Amino acid sequence: MTQMIENSMRVISTNREMAQACRDAEKPVGLVPTMGALHAGHLSLVDQARADNLTVAVSIFVNPTQFGDSKDLDRYPRDLEGDLEMLRRHGVDLVYAPTVDQVYPEGFDTWVDVGPLAGKLEGLHRPGHFRGVATVVSKLFNLMQPNRAYFGQKDGQQTVVIQKLARDLDMGVGVVVMPTIREADGLAMSSRNVQLSPEQRQAAPVVHDALFQAYMLWSGGERDGNALLSAATEVLQAEPRVDSIDYVSVASMTTLDEVEHVDGRAMVSVAVHMGPVRLIDNIVLE
Ligand code: PAJ
Repeated sequence: MTQMIENSMRVISTNREMAQACRDAEKPVGLVPTMGALHAGHLSLVDQARADNLTVAVSIFVNPTQFGDSKDLDRYPRDLEGDLEMLRRHGVDLVYAPTVDQVYPEGFDTWVDVGPLAGKLEGLHRPGHFRGVATVVSKLFNLMQPNRAYFGQKDGQQTVVIQKLARDLDMGVGVVVMPTIREADGLAMSSRNVQLSPEQRQAAPVVHDALFQAYMLWSGGERDGNALLSAATEVLQAEPRVDSIDYVSVASMTTLDEVEHVDGRAMVSVAVHMGPVRLIDNIVLE
Protein backbone atom coordinates (compact mmCIF):
# COMPACT_ATOMS: atom_id res chain seq x y z
CA MET A 1 0.00 0.00 0.00
CA THR A 2 1.40 3.41 -0.86
CA GLN A 3 1.34 5.78 2.01
CA MET A 4 0.23 9.34 1.39
CA ILE A 5 2.44 11.88 3.11
CA GLU A 6 0.16 14.50 4.51
CA ASN A 7 1.27 17.90 3.38
CA SER A 8 0.52 20.45 6.02
CA MET A 9 2.81 23.32 5.07
CA ARG A 10 1.10 26.64 5.79
CA VAL A 11 1.85 29.68 3.66
CA ILE A 12 1.14 32.90 5.53
CA SER A 13 1.34 36.50 4.34
CA THR A 14 0.23 38.59 7.31
CA ASN A 15 2.17 39.48 10.48
CA ARG A 16 -0.70 38.69 12.81
CA GLU A 17 -1.26 35.21 11.46
CA MET A 18 2.47 34.43 11.38
CA ALA A 19 3.01 35.57 14.97
CA GLN A 20 0.08 33.43 16.10
CA ALA A 21 1.28 30.38 14.13
CA CYS A 22 4.71 30.67 15.77
CA ARG A 23 3.20 31.03 19.25
CA ASP A 24 1.12 27.89 18.66
CA ALA A 25 3.97 25.92 17.04
CA GLU A 26 5.77 23.06 18.74
CA LYS A 27 9.10 24.28 20.09
CA PRO A 28 11.92 24.53 19.26
CA VAL A 29 11.24 26.62 16.16
CA GLY A 30 14.01 26.96 13.55
CA LEU A 31 13.83 29.91 11.12
CA VAL A 32 15.52 30.17 7.71
CA PRO A 33 15.30 33.74 6.36
CA THR A 34 15.55 33.95 2.55
CA MET A 35 14.77 36.17 -0.41
CA GLY A 36 13.46 33.20 -2.44
CA ALA A 37 14.61 31.87 -5.85
CA LEU A 38 15.72 28.95 -3.76
CA HIS A 39 18.60 26.62 -4.60
CA ALA A 40 20.55 23.85 -2.88
CA GLY A 41 22.38 26.40 -0.68
CA HIS A 42 19.10 27.55 0.88
CA LEU A 43 17.85 23.97 1.13
CA SER A 44 20.94 22.93 3.11
CA LEU A 45 19.86 25.45 5.77
CA VAL A 46 16.29 24.12 5.67
CA ASP A 47 17.50 20.53 6.09
CA GLN A 48 19.64 21.47 9.09
CA ALA A 49 16.72 23.37 10.62
CA ARG A 50 14.51 20.30 10.04
CA ALA A 51 17.08 18.08 11.82
CA ASP A 52 17.42 20.41 14.83
CA ASN A 53 13.84 21.60 15.50
CA LEU A 54 10.23 20.45 15.86
CA THR A 55 8.94 23.32 13.71
CA VAL A 56 10.67 24.77 10.64
CA ALA A 57 9.71 28.23 9.39
CA VAL A 58 11.08 29.81 6.20
CA SER A 59 10.61 33.44 5.21
CA ILE A 60 10.57 34.49 1.56
CA PHE A 61 10.84 38.24 1.17
CA VAL A 62 12.88 40.26 -1.32
CA ASN A 63 13.77 43.00 1.13
CA PRO A 64 13.84 46.34 -0.73
CA THR A 65 15.71 48.19 2.04
CA GLN A 66 18.90 46.15 1.55
CA PHE A 67 19.15 46.97 -2.19
CA GLY A 68 20.96 50.19 -3.03
CA ASP A 69 20.21 49.92 -6.72
CA SER A 70 16.56 49.75 -7.81
CA LYS A 71 17.56 47.95 -11.06
CA ASP A 72 19.15 45.19 -8.98
CA LEU A 73 15.94 44.96 -6.94
CA ASP A 74 13.74 44.83 -10.06
CA ARG A 75 15.71 42.08 -11.74
CA TYR A 76 16.15 39.98 -8.60
CA PRO A 77 14.79 36.52 -9.58
CA ARG A 78 11.42 35.52 -8.13
CA ASP A 79 9.66 32.14 -8.28
CA LEU A 80 7.25 31.74 -5.37
CA GLU A 81 5.44 28.66 -6.74
CA GLY A 82 8.72 26.83 -7.45
CA ASP A 83 10.04 27.80 -4.00
CA LEU A 84 6.94 26.52 -2.20
CA GLU A 85 7.15 23.20 -4.02
CA MET A 86 10.77 22.72 -2.88
CA LEU A 87 9.95 23.72 0.69
CA ARG A 88 7.05 21.25 0.78
CA ARG A 89 9.37 18.47 -0.31
CA HIS A 90 11.84 19.43 2.42
CA GLY A 91 9.24 19.15 5.16
CA VAL A 92 8.81 22.82 6.05
CA ASP A 93 5.90 23.66 8.39
CA LEU A 94 5.45 27.42 8.01
CA VAL A 95 6.28 29.82 5.19
CA TYR A 96 6.08 33.56 5.72
CA ALA A 97 5.74 35.35 2.37
CA PRO A 98 4.61 38.91 3.16
CA THR A 99 4.10 41.90 0.87
CA VAL A 100 6.35 44.95 1.17
CA ASP A 101 3.47 46.82 2.86
CA GLN A 102 3.19 44.18 5.58
CA VAL A 103 6.86 44.54 6.46
CA TYR A 104 7.19 48.29 5.90
CA PRO A 105 3.77 49.87 6.44
CA GLU A 106 3.17 53.54 5.82
CA GLY A 107 5.13 55.57 8.37
CA PHE A 108 7.75 52.89 9.11
CA ASP A 109 10.66 54.75 10.69
CA THR A 110 12.76 52.60 13.03
CA TRP A 111 16.07 51.12 11.86
CA VAL A 112 18.67 48.79 13.31
CA ASP A 113 22.15 50.24 12.90
CA VAL A 114 24.87 47.64 13.45
CA GLY A 115 27.78 50.06 13.85
CA PRO A 116 31.31 49.76 12.43
CA LEU A 117 30.90 46.17 11.15
CA ALA A 118 28.34 47.41 8.65
CA GLY A 119 30.73 49.94 7.10
CA LYS A 120 33.40 47.43 6.07
CA LEU A 121 33.82 45.19 2.98
CA GLU A 122 30.31 44.88 1.46
CA GLY A 123 29.22 47.93 3.43
CA LEU A 124 31.80 50.13 1.66
CA HIS A 125 30.36 49.18 -1.73
CA ARG A 126 26.72 48.88 -0.72
CA PRO A 127 26.00 51.75 1.70
CA GLY A 128 22.91 51.05 3.81
CA HIS A 129 22.87 47.36 2.86
CA PHE A 130 23.44 46.01 6.37
CA ARG A 131 21.03 48.47 7.92
CA GLY A 132 18.37 46.93 5.68
CA VAL A 133 19.48 43.37 6.48
CA ALA A 134 19.72 44.00 10.25
CA THR A 135 16.32 45.70 10.32
CA VAL A 136 14.46 42.99 8.43
CA VAL A 137 16.16 40.17 10.35
CA SER A 138 15.32 41.88 13.67
CA LYS A 139 11.71 42.17 12.56
CA LEU A 140 11.60 38.47 11.61
CA PHE A 141 13.14 37.50 14.96
CA ASN A 142 10.65 39.66 16.87
CA LEU A 143 7.66 38.43 14.90
CA MET A 144 8.47 34.71 14.96
CA GLN A 145 10.62 34.43 18.11
CA PRO A 146 12.51 31.41 16.74
CA ASN A 147 14.79 29.40 19.02
CA ARG A 148 17.37 29.11 16.24
CA ALA A 149 18.00 30.87 12.93
CA TYR A 150 20.11 29.53 10.07
CA PHE A 151 22.47 31.51 7.81
CA GLY A 152 25.01 30.55 5.14
CA GLN A 153 28.76 31.22 5.28
CA LYS A 154 28.36 32.28 1.61
CA ASP A 155 27.46 35.73 2.97
CA GLY A 156 30.31 35.80 5.46
CA GLN A 157 29.96 39.39 6.65
CA GLN A 158 26.21 38.95 7.05
CA THR A 159 26.79 36.07 9.50
CA VAL A 160 29.15 38.24 11.58
CA VAL A 161 26.68 41.13 11.58
CA ILE A 162 23.74 38.93 12.59
CA GLN A 163 25.63 37.15 15.36
CA LYS A 164 26.54 40.56 16.77
CA LEU A 165 23.01 41.89 16.42
CA ALA A 166 21.53 38.84 18.18
CA ARG A 167 23.99 39.29 21.06
CA ASP A 168 23.82 43.08 21.34
CA LEU A 169 20.01 43.18 21.30
CA ASP A 170 19.48 40.08 23.52
CA MET A 171 17.41 38.44 20.80
CA GLY A 172 17.54 35.04 22.50
CA VAL A 173 17.97 33.38 19.10
CA GLY A 174 20.75 30.84 18.48
CA VAL A 175 22.45 31.81 15.20
CA VAL A 176 23.63 28.74 13.27
CA VAL A 177 26.07 29.21 10.37
CA MET A 178 26.23 26.53 7.66
CA PRO A 179 28.96 25.92 5.05
CA THR A 180 28.79 27.34 1.52
CA ILE A 181 27.25 24.98 -1.03
CA ARG A 182 29.02 25.06 -4.40
CA GLU A 183 28.48 23.90 -7.96
CA ALA A 184 30.77 21.07 -9.15
CA ASP A 185 33.21 23.63 -10.61
CA GLY A 186 33.51 25.56 -7.34
CA LEU A 187 31.13 28.47 -8.03
CA ALA A 188 29.16 29.28 -4.88
CA MET A 189 25.45 28.77 -5.49
CA SER A 190 23.55 32.04 -5.65
CA SER A 191 20.12 33.16 -6.84
CA ARG A 192 21.86 35.73 -9.05
CA ASN A 193 23.94 33.16 -10.99
CA VAL A 194 21.07 32.69 -13.49
CA GLN A 195 21.78 36.22 -14.74
CA LEU A 196 25.26 35.23 -16.02
CA SER A 197 25.69 34.65 -19.77
CA PRO A 198 27.08 31.20 -20.71
CA GLU A 199 30.56 32.75 -21.18
CA GLN A 200 30.41 34.55 -17.85
CA ARG A 201 29.11 31.40 -16.14
CA GLN A 202 32.11 29.52 -17.52
CA ALA A 203 34.53 32.09 -16.10
CA ALA A 204 32.76 32.59 -12.76
CA PRO A 205 34.58 29.79 -10.86
CA VAL A 206 37.67 32.06 -10.99
CA VAL A 207 36.31 33.61 -7.77
CA HIS A 208 36.61 30.31 -5.98
CA ASP A 209 39.97 29.60 -7.68
CA ALA A 210 41.31 32.88 -6.27
CA LEU A 211 40.16 32.03 -2.75
CA PHE A 212 41.53 28.53 -3.07
CA GLN A 213 44.91 29.89 -4.16
CA ALA A 214 45.09 31.91 -0.93
CA TYR A 215 43.93 28.89 1.06
CA MET A 216 46.63 26.65 -0.44
CA LEU A 217 49.34 29.20 0.37
CA TRP A 218 48.01 29.49 3.93
CA SER A 219 47.98 25.66 4.23
CA GLY A 220 51.63 25.69 3.16
CA GLY A 221 52.46 28.01 6.08
CA GLU A 222 52.11 31.51 4.60
CA ARG A 223 50.80 33.85 7.30
CA ASP A 224 51.41 37.25 5.70
CA GLY A 225 47.98 38.79 4.97
CA ASN A 226 49.31 40.85 2.06
CA ALA A 227 50.92 37.84 0.40
CA LEU A 228 47.62 35.92 0.58
CA LEU A 229 45.73 38.94 -0.73
CA SER A 230 48.12 39.46 -3.66
CA ALA A 231 47.95 35.79 -4.66
CA ALA A 232 44.14 35.86 -4.81
CA THR A 233 44.12 39.20 -6.67
CA GLU A 234 46.51 37.89 -9.34
CA VAL A 235 44.20 34.97 -10.11
CA LEU A 236 41.25 37.37 -10.57
CA GLN A 237 43.26 39.79 -12.70
CA ALA A 238 44.27 36.98 -15.05
CA GLU A 239 40.62 36.41 -16.03
CA PRO A 240 39.52 38.96 -18.68
CA ARG A 241 35.83 38.25 -18.08
CA VAL A 242 36.14 39.76 -14.59
CA ASP A 243 35.03 43.34 -15.34
CA SER A 244 36.16 44.88 -12.06
CA ILE A 245 37.22 43.92 -8.56
CA ASP A 246 35.41 45.64 -5.66
CA TYR A 247 37.68 44.13 -3.01
CA VAL A 248 39.90 41.27 -2.00
CA SER A 249 40.27 41.06 1.76
CA VAL A 250 41.97 39.01 4.46
CA ALA A 251 40.15 39.98 7.64
CA SER A 252 39.52 38.98 11.24
CA MET A 253 36.34 36.93 11.69
CA THR A 254 35.24 39.03 14.64
CA THR A 255 36.12 42.64 13.81
CA LEU A 256 36.35 42.29 9.99
CA ASP A 257 39.52 44.42 10.17
CA GLU A 258 42.26 43.51 7.71
CA VAL A 259 44.96 41.32 9.25
CA GLU A 260 48.65 41.73 8.45
CA HIS A 261 49.62 38.50 10.16
CA VAL A 262 47.13 35.62 10.21
CA ASP A 263 47.36 33.90 13.58
CA GLY A 264 43.72 33.17 14.45
CA ARG A 265 40.65 32.51 12.34
CA ALA A 266 40.56 34.75 9.31
CA MET A 267 38.28 35.13 6.31
CA VAL A 268 39.50 35.73 2.78
CA SER A 269 36.69 37.37 0.85
CA VAL A 270 36.19 38.65 -2.66
CA ALA A 271 33.62 40.72 -4.56
CA VAL A 272 33.84 41.16 -8.34
CA HIS A 273 31.63 42.36 -11.15
CA MET A 274 31.00 40.08 -14.09
CA GLY A 275 28.51 41.55 -16.55
CA PRO A 276 25.25 42.28 -14.70
CA VAL A 277 26.19 40.22 -11.66
CA ARG A 278 28.21 41.05 -8.59
CA LEU A 279 29.76 37.81 -7.33
CA ILE A 280 30.78 37.48 -3.68
CA ASP A 281 32.45 34.54 -1.99
CA ASN A 282 34.78 33.77 0.90
CA ILE A 283 36.85 31.06 2.47
CA VAL A 284 37.67 30.72 6.17
CA LEU A 285 41.26 30.01 7.22
CA GLU A 286 41.03 27.86 10.34
P1 PAJ B 1 19.37 35.06 0.41
O1 PAJ B 1 20.43 35.61 -0.47
O2 PAJ B 1 18.13 34.50 -0.19
O3 PAJ B 1 20.02 33.94 1.30
C1 PAJ B 1 19.30 33.32 2.32
C2 PAJ B 1 20.29 32.49 3.14
O4 PAJ B 1 20.84 31.45 2.32
C3 PAJ B 1 21.47 33.34 3.66
O5 PAJ B 1 21.77 32.98 4.98
C4 PAJ B 1 22.58 32.95 2.70
O6 PAJ B 1 23.88 33.10 3.24
C5 PAJ B 1 22.25 31.49 2.44
N1 PAJ B 1 22.90 31.01 1.21
C6 PAJ B 1 22.83 31.59 -0.02
N2 PAJ B 1 23.62 30.90 -0.90
C7 PAJ B 1 24.18 29.90 -0.20
C8 PAJ B 1 25.11 28.85 -0.54
N3 PAJ B 1 25.60 28.72 -1.75
N4 PAJ B 1 25.48 27.99 0.45
C9 PAJ B 1 24.98 28.13 1.71
N5 PAJ B 1 24.13 29.09 2.08
C10 PAJ B 1 23.73 29.96 1.15
O7 PAJ B 1 20.85 36.49 2.60
C11 PAJ B 1 19.72 36.86 2.33
O8 PAJ B 1 18.87 36.19 1.46
C12 PAJ B 1 19.09 38.10 2.96
O9 PAJ B 1 20.10 39.03 3.22
C13 PAJ B 1 18.28 37.81 4.24
C14 PAJ B 1 19.16 37.24 5.35
C15 PAJ B 1 17.11 36.86 3.93
C16 PAJ B 1 17.66 39.15 4.77
O10 PAJ B 1 16.85 39.74 3.82
